[in-house]
Amino acid sequence: MLAAHVLSTTAVSNTLVHKGSRTQSSSWAAAGSIDDMTAPLIVTRDQALLDELLRLAAAAGAQPDVAADGGAALRGWAGAPLVLVGADVAEDLARISPARRPGVYVVAWGVVADEMFRIALAVGAESVAQLPRSEAWLTELLTDLGDGAGPAAEALTVGVTGGSGGAGATTFAAALGQVGARRGRAVVVDADPLGPGVDRVLGLEDRDGVRWDGLCDTTGRLSARALREALPRREDLGALSWRAGPPGTLQAFAAREVLSAARRGHDLVVVDLPRTPDPLLDEIAARCDRLLVVVVPTVAGVASAVRTCARHRDPTTVRLVLRGRGIEPQQVARATGVPVLATMPDQRGLAEAIDLGLGPVRSRRSALGRAAGEVLDQLFLMRAAA
Ligand SMILES: Nc1ncnc2c1ncn2[C@@H]1O[C@H](COP(=O)(O)OP(=O)(O)O)[C@@H](O)[C@H]1O
Ligand SMILES: [Mg+2]
Repeated sequence: MLAAHVLSTTAVSNTLVHKGSRTQSSSWAAAGSIDDMTAPLIVTRDQALLDELLRLAAAAGAQPDVAADGGAALRGWAGAPLVLVGADVAEDLARISPARRPGVYVVAWGVVADEMFRIALAVGAESVAQLPRSEAWLTELLTDLGDGAGPAAEALTVGVTGGSGGAGATTFAAALGQVGARRGRAVVVDADPLGPGVDRVLGLEDRDGVRWDGLCDTTGRLSARALREALPRREDLGALSWRAGPPGTLQAFAAREVLSAARRGHDLVVVDLPRTPDPLLDEIAARCDRLLVVVVPTVAGVASAVRTCARHRDPTTVRLVLRGRGIEPQQVARATGVPVLATMPDQRGLAEAIDLGLGPVRSRRSALGRAAGEVLDQLFLMRAAA
């Protein structure tokens, strides 16, 4: 989708800048290498634009490759984690129809003519960035590359919802976050304004950091690193939740940006999804790689889970986690039409652990610790096989 970040070309220089060559005004245009998977690719012949992009890249600690023509651009096209196409060469590039790929942006000076949006679409760009207005946004985009965050490095994203009210979705989402943080960078995103707050469940409620209210004015692209560093966290576990007080509401733009930045900046993103039927929540669920439904295997719990599962359109991504004893897992799977990924007994001492600020998983070998570990093993395996 094409967003209007942008605009026009004033200074067009005829200077040719060859890929990887050193420019007079930049000390390090040669530093990037086409083999370096973190080197963004800049395609332009506009010297002023190039100088500006190199300056922003330097500020972001990125070392770009530079291509001055379509041929050179195509060589680096697929491997670069990010491609910035100058408005001056966008039309030429569109003519040679480079392969579609994510992370392509057209960059222009000043006001952009409508025609440029058509051209940007033709090169498969996600948006047109306007300088100088989009400077900060571009710097964030470039900064994210330093984290190794590119399209290939996105987090496994797992939504968790309850098959019935109080089934234990928030608790399990928090448990996944705790266990996931032992393996890499994890974040639990609380999409339930009426829930207990995942920061509280994880014992992070007293930590400084950004909450949803601080992100609802988001209008541009969020930097993955900036988001990760702004969240309340303990070691590799972060949480995005709600400020205490009257309930907030999820804003569509902020939610999409948060999810995207969280995925780029972590290894695991867990989203605690309320059961409320809501188009934005359905969209968030659809953006998750997997959706876990926590089911209490009683007659009422399963009846409710059947309805919950029927609401989520893609049955291949949905899996069940059963909490407590009751109806056999095979019967629950048959009734809902959804496979069971894990079963767990009730967690003893849960309320106490949460009250102590330890989170629901006190030990790896606890009921929740084991179940969360098993679920993550399977989900990472499924992704590797996908
Ligand atoms: N794994 C568990 N073992 C024991 N009790 C649990 C477990 N998960 C949740 N509970 C109980 O259920 C209540 C609701 O849990 P919660 O995670 O908030 O459910 P949901 O998010 O599905 O509404 C908790 O306060 C706790 O008493
Ligand atoms: Mg909940």
